[in-house]
Amino acid sequence: MNTDALERISPIRLPDLLRRMPKAELHIHIEGSLEPELIFALAARNGVVLPYASVDALRQAYAFTNLQSFLDIYYAGASVMLTEQDFFDMAWAYLERATADNVVHAEIFFDPQTHTARGVSMETVINGLHRACAKAPGALGINATLIMCFLRHLSEEEAFQTLEQAMPLRDKFIGVGLDSSELGHPPEKFARVFARCRELGLHLVAHAGEEGPPAYIWTALDLLKVERIDHGIQSVKDAALMGRLARDRIPLTVCPLSNLKLRVFPTLADHNLGQLFDAGLVATINSDDPAYFGGYMNENFVQTFAAIGLTAQHAYTLANNSFTASFIDDVQRRAYIDRLDACFDSFA
Ligand code: ADE
Ligand code: ZN
Repeated sequence: MNTDALERISPIRLPDLLRRMPKAELHIHIEGSLEPELIFALAARNGVVLPYASVDALRQAYAFTNLQSFLDIYYAGASVMLTEQDFFDMAWAYLERATADNVVHAEIFFDPQTHTARGVSMETVINGLHRACAKAPGALGINATLIMCFLRHLSEEEAFQTLEQAMPLRDKFIGVGLDSSELGHPPEKFARVFARCRELGLHLVAHAGEEGPPAYIWTALDLLKVERIDHGIQSVKDAALMGRLARDRIPLTVCPLSNLKLRVFPTLADHNLGQLFDAGLVATINSDDPAYFGGYMNENFVQTFAAIGLTAQHAYTLANNSFTASFIDDVQRRAYIDRLDACFDSFA
């Protein structure tokens, strides 16, 4: 894509371009895509009693002060999931919504321990999610893969048990991640289980530097040997770390509306995505838990661009980064970037 063409795109057309450009989503927790309406529908279907009187009452509880205040409600919402069909329906609703935002490829996190702890089997979780991913290319034109996350507030032994339960379904997920309460649960707590996952040929990612310190990003890189950092926004506090991330082209999956809603930044205008760009980092924009944070992919793009004044050049770089950072082969990557170029050409 030549820069002259990018400069010819009028800023007035930027929101439309952001919505229309093909993009990959690399940081979406499928349980965080459960809209209150679907939570209530699944609760009714499964006879689960919720501690909220209505959809509106549940939505009103979405006033978070930090990560933990969100996680408490997020795990309560996920408690309505019981059958394979529930997992299919949850993933399908997300895939339809993502397709509407011109997401053409999604790497979807799921938290099996949230469900297995309630007696739901690993097969139920993975088979339901995988059936939706398998149907999506033909029915919706979106490609989707799964990344299994370990809950970091639980023990490494429990992570090993989770991995063992998932092994018969190894061909249905492409990697592992690390999520949940960050502070007090550094990546090194999971060094041995990540080493095992690496031996198994799984892709490795981890949440680090969302609320936690730059030290957690260093250990995610050096001890867990992750290929991407989820969030990573606290890296700006450590110049040497910024140098490392830039030099090794480690992608960051940044989630602006999540950071706003969990009060990492007081306003979107204070978000440090521009700083990450200026330091040459491979940043991407993602939605994290869109049902809880007020926006799917396009809302994250449009609001962030308006708040921090990004340009068509940034739009191209962000979409291009999303494909560069994806766990896809080079042929698929080239095909997506050709579609991206065609979209920008049609705007220039
Ligand atoms: N699980 C779901 N969303 C999360 C987030 N933003 N951080 C950590 N764990 C999560
Ligand atoms: Zn996340």
